[in-house]
Amino acid sequence: VVLLLGRRRRREGEPQLIQGWVPYIGKALDFGLDSNAFLKKNQEKYGDVFTVYIAGKYMTFIMDPLLFPSIMKYGRQLDFHDFVNQVAPVTFGYPPVSSFPDMDHQIQRSFRLLQGDNLLALTESMMGNLQAVFRQDFLGDAGGEAAGEGWSTGGLYDFCSSLMFEATFLTLYGSPDHACRHSDMAALRHHFTKFDNMFPLLVAGIPIWLLGRTKATREKLIRYFLPQRMLGWSNTSLFITMRSRVFEQNDMLSDTDKGAHHFAILWASVGNTVPASFWALYYLINQQEALQAIRQELHRVLQHPESQDPWEPEVMISKDQLEQLVYMESAINESLRLSSASMNIRVAQQDFTLQLDKQHAVAVRRGDFIALYPQMMHMDPEIFTEPQVYKYDRFIEDGREKTDFFKRGQKLKFYRMPFGSGSSICPGRFFAINEIKQFLCLLLIYLDMEMEEGQEEAQLDNSRAGLGILLPTKDVRFRYRLRRPTS
Ligand code: HEM
Repeated sequence: VVLLLGRRRRREGEPQLIQGWVPYIGKALDFGLDSNAFLKKNQEKYGDVFTVYIAGKYMTFIMDPLLFPSIMKYGRQLDFHDFVNQVAPVTFGYPPVSSFPDMDHQIQRSFRLLQGDNLLALTESMMGNLQAVFRQDFLGDAGGEAAGEGWSTGGLYDFCSSLMFEATFLTLYGSPDHACRHSDMAALRHHFTKFDNMFPLLVAGIPIWLLGRTKATREKLIRYFLPQRMLGWSNTSLFITMRSRVFEQNDMLSDTDKGAHHFAILWASVGNTVPASFWALYYLINQQEALQAIRQELHRVLQHPESQDPWEPEVMISKDQLEQLVYMESAINESLRLSSASMNIRVAQQDFTLQLDKQHAVAVRRGDFIALYPQMMHMDPEIFTEPQVYKYDRFIEDGREKTDFFKRGQKLKFYRMPFGSGSSICPGRFFAINEIKQFLCLLLIYLDMEMEEGQEEAQLDNSRAGLGILLPTKDVRFRYRLRRPTS
């Protein structure tokens, strides 16, 4: 009787309701097991709009991508930051930002420092840091272990993670005053990975004290960013400098709260970029024809010979040159299409009728989540022919970016959404694409790369479906060696 009383009744005008029998959990397990199959089954049964009870939340899924633009129009009634304010504080351990309205506004303003003119300084700094870490760790600069004449082997995910994590960290947060690298980066990455493994459970609302040593791990990560520590760092990006200033002006924030905010940005900046770099490189190495085409484009744009002498001074790639790498960008977008499972969520601020198009309207209740699940669109054969297949030039037409994709004969406004959409779209997306390009450029210039034979293909780990770029279920091995100069 208690279970029955706790269940919600569907009201007139509301979408079909699917809530399961288990209190709080609802349909979370079915969704977590295979989100795509679950949503597809319900779409076939109930149409393009239905509400599912998942982990204590009523989520109305909008499945038809032609309806997505109508959701973006409801900026006032459907709020993204309400969702961030519900989830981020418990996940990262800081007090809800909504309690500090002024600070919330300044935090939003800080995102501008990841874009526009500010992107130039970030991109230049990233190139220097990426190259420094790569040259020291893989080319033996500064006494590191040099890649020998022959092949070296390693885990591809670990390789991508070690390079991108550290280079991104240095670019955003800066380096120690008297050294160009932080000595404890491996430990930081280790703790980050442990925390990241628990991330889906935290976001699902599982209390941190139920998750073993996760709280202690999070405390270590937060301590890394305590203000007195960060004061000793130089070459910090304007983005992080401004955020530190905002936090300093707020007497209500403790040093631990400030550290927790900086840690949240670390998660936002590498949590997706590292797996995205992995998939971008993985697909290229697996398809040598694609890899050759991208390498040729790179050398054409850089106007230097097919192979760079690794002992030459640093490779310089300007922001303009990065923009000219259209085939590389298409290849990155294709790997994002295949690996991203971000869910875009908005919280209804009031009871209202959501007009989806001329014919369709649904009643929505205050506090309900409206969810877009772009992975379904990314894998729709009507929009992308052979959606399971990696085609590096899928987003190119007549040598330029292809933007025409159709559903039921109508051109789609949104057809690629790994970075979210509308008012909540990722503010770091331009920086992210640039850094993945820089990463690929460096590797394509310096290294020959192949997958080791006799291993299974990398599989997507669905345990974080809805939360961004999926990780591989396990690492895959690859081999690499220095390319020889051709002239
Ligand atoms: C938010 C994806 C890289 C900073 C988001 C969202 C997505 C996303 C899906 C939520 C958007 C929504 O729900 O509509 C990605 C992917 C990346 C990436 C796929 C890499 C491939 C970065 C980087 C940074 C960054 C490098 C920072 C340097 C942020 C921030 C937010 C965010 C701060 C929250 C924005 C807000 O609260 O309004 N990202 N992101 N992201 N991302 Fe990214």
